[in-house]
Amino acid sequence: MEPCENPQEWYFTKQTRVIMKFLLATSAVLLLVAMEGMAARGATRRTKRELMSPLHMGGIRDPFGSYCERRGGCCPGRDDQCTVPYLDTICYCDLFCNRTVSDCCPDFWGHCLGITPPFIGKCERNGHMFLSGQTYKENCNLCTCGTTGRWECEQHACLIETDMIQAVNRGNYGWRAANYSQFYGMSLDEGLRYRLGTQRPSRTIMNMNEIQMNMDPQTDHLPLHFNAEEKWPGKIHEPLDQGNCAASWAFSTAAVASDRIAIQSMGHMTPQLSPQNLISCDTRNQGGCAGGRIDGAWWYLRRRGVVTEECYPFSPPQQTPVEVGRCMMQSRSVGRGKRQATARCPNTHAYQNDIYQSTPPYRLSSNDKEIMKEIMDNGPVQAILEVHEDFFVYKSGIYKHTDVSSTRPPHFRKHNTHSVRITGWGEERTYDGTMRKYWIAANSWGKNWGENGYFRIARGENECEIETFVIGVWGRVTLEDMHHHSKRK
Ligand SMILES: *[C@@H]1O[C@H](CO)[C@@H](O)[C@H](O)[C@H]1NC(C)=O
Ligand SMILES: *[C@@H]1O[C@H](CO)[C@@H](O)[C@H](O)[C@H]1NC(C)=O
Repeated sequence: MEPCENPQEWYFTKQTRVIMKFLLATSAVLLLVAMEGMAARGATRRTKRELMSPLHMGGIRDPFGSYCERRGGCCPGRDDQCTVPYLDTICYCDLFCNRTVSDCCPDFWGHCLGITPPFIGKCERNGHMFLSGQTYKENCNLCTCGTTGRWECEQHACLIETDMIQAVNRGNYGWRAANYSQFYGMSLDEGLRYRLGTQRPSRTIMNMNEIQMNMDPQTDHLPLHFNAEEKWPGKIHEPLDQGNCAASWAFSTAAVASDRIAIQSMGHMTPQLSPQNLISCDTRNQGGCAGGRIDGAWWYLRRRGVVTEECYPFSPPQQTPVEVGRCMMQSRSVGRGKRQATARCPNTHAYQNDIYQSTPPYRLSSNDKEIMKEIMDNGPVQAILEVHEDFFVYKSGIYKHTDVSSTRPPHFRKHNTHSVRITGWGEERTYDGTMRKYWIAANSWGKNWGENGYFRIARGENECEIETFVIGVWGRVTLEDMHHHSKRK
């Protein structure tokens, strides 16, 4: 049985954590149209032609293309060889092509008959005339000039909807929305498919026990504001940009582990761990840039370990569906629980290919106080987040999912699972005097998104399930490591 499917291994009792802390403290951490007249044609071998659906049903898609002209002319009567490649099929330049259903080349009428094609519509846009088949893109939707002379546009929900942005900013929601050029032109479905990438943990994992935290109200004083960057300056890593790679499973895991290692090693080691190392190498039951599981990522970090971002840099996918990329870097045991990279850094300018590992992750309760205490004592935590359509346009303020899309068709209201890193909290009094508590969390959509790559979200009400599944972890840091790394600096 895979250790990662075994919740017991994740589970830490208070006692083991005390021991751990002690140890850390001491050793230090995817038609045919059969027509009438076919029988008449059937006498000769015109298989391909008969099987094809009418070419120009939706208008001529390439009205200005030269086909018959390029072929060097037209053919009298019927000539099944009188063809030219057209898009992903062929079109005909014989006079027979306009019988029954047309499979004539777009320039057949003009070039062979000297007339205007019968089914050409004219559409107007911005004072210009367009012919049927011509297209333009309006945000995430392709609009095509139809044969009737009207633009026919796709009706996808887009990631950036002007109405949505305006409704959020007009409403009293406590946060502001903005347009992001990197999202503009994408559909909501694409956003949910390519910009997130954390599978909801399985039922077994979801049911795993939480660590018991015995909070003492006397000694456990939780400040009103806390920011890990202030408590551990230089040890909290900046938000990265996952681009169109749906691998938040790898980004959030690497980010939390990076911060924890820096904190535990008291700054002797501040590695920015490589999400790409996880994406390309942690491939068992994982989907790379098509989504993955955080429990699998933690298993990998614990058993195999990863190198730094500098050593194994992120290479955003250039194509869809996305390729994972070959694993360039494995690790092997060198005894005493230590591991060593089996290859030089994929980045040929980087030399340090040290492997960093973590201890088993532990699950925190959904109680905001316990999560706060954990962050304050031990550093940032990982959390899953249900991302709804309005989250993409978040710019600033305290996010709460809004009802601004409630009057739109259902396909404008969708969500999918993501994972992020919570780094602090605070509270803010609104103009009407109510207190609003929030979490500070780092996203992986680059630093131009939200508040410098971060966002604030309502705290204590399990907003978008942010308090449902929260994970902490220890880096594996020994005194020896610290010494070794310090010397290198
Ligand atoms: C054939 O072309 C004529 C114009 O010359 C047009 O009116 C007619 O609709 C066309 N027939 C078909 C089946 O496309
Ligand atoms: C959003 O930005 C894109 C390009 O960055 C621009 O073409 C578009 O008009 C903008 N939309 C809104 C609603 O501002």
